[in-house]
Amino acid sequence: MGNNFSRTKIARSFSSATHSYDVSARLQRYTGKHLMSKLPKRSDLTVVDLGCGTGFFTNILASKYKQVIGVDISKGMLKFAEEKSTHDIKWIEADAFKLPIEDESVDVIYSNLMIQWCNPLSDLLTEMTRILKPGGLFVFSTLVEGTLYELKSSWKQVDDEPHVLDFQPKDTLVNTFDGSQFKLLDSQVKDIALEYENVMHLLHELKGLGANHVPNQKKKGLSGKDKWKQMTEHYEDFREPNGVYPATYSAYSGVAVKLNV
Ligand SMILES: C[S@@+](CC[C@H](N)C(=O)[O-])C[C@H]1O[C@@H](n2cnc3c(N)ncnc32)[C@H](O)[C@@H]1O
Repeated sequence: MGNNFSRTKIARSFSSATHSYDVSARLQRYTGKHLMSKLPKRSDLTVVDLGCGTGFFTNILASKYKQVIGVDISKGMLKFAEEKSTHDIKWIEADAFKLPIEDESVDVIYSNLMIQWCNPLSDLLTEMTRILKPGGLFVFSTLVEGTLYELKSSWKQVDDEPHVLDFQPKDTLVNTFDGSQFKLLDSQVKDIALEYENVMHLLHELKGLGANHVPNQKKKGLSGKDKWKQMTEHYEDFREPNGVYPATYSAYSGVAVKLNV
């Protein structure tokens, strides 16, 4: 994934997508809802929604738990979340790697499709270990290798530029989680194929999600028109008989418990 992930750029990319985010969030809604079923049933808990975005799931968490904190690095996302909030939630603008939250004060960290932006993941886990109580849970979803393979392979036939984020192999994540700080209690990968009217529709959705920041990308904005045209021609190979263009997202979700060390 490269280690020059600029968090400022990621925050800016998400901030500029704030107002189109909720209409482009089909994937987020699906994985976030699935994660809800993995949460503990007790209500007297303190829960952090890490990378809360527009606060859609933060509000659902606040309807279930005593204290809920929404954290995001993007000013725009957080402002939107706070304005639309229907519950008593504490909103914090912060980087997940450096949280202004007390040691061992949190029962559950819920994080839907955020950690794919976090590199190195081991540093993020160290920060989560710090704020979680012993036995606290990390309930997460992220994207792994295989995600957007149609788009990746279509670009690959045009040039070698990194047009699409490099998602980590599932096993790398499993090994990172199952270390001295956490133990994975449950995890699975599910391939979710979303349908698009055309390739432009897919790219608009990725942009609307703020997911258009790729580290190490040399050129800004769209590639040359010819390259773009070539890429869309290669994408035709994936078009289904009913005329729709699929894009696959390999979603990895799970629950990890903080070990008593
Ligand atoms: C794909 S969105 C998911 C938002 C929300 N969890 C949902 O389900 O709709 C990812 C969010 O993570 C935030 N994010 C990315 N890197 C972050 C970091 N290092 N610290 C805190 N938030 C971060 C982005 O600003 C964005 O709002």
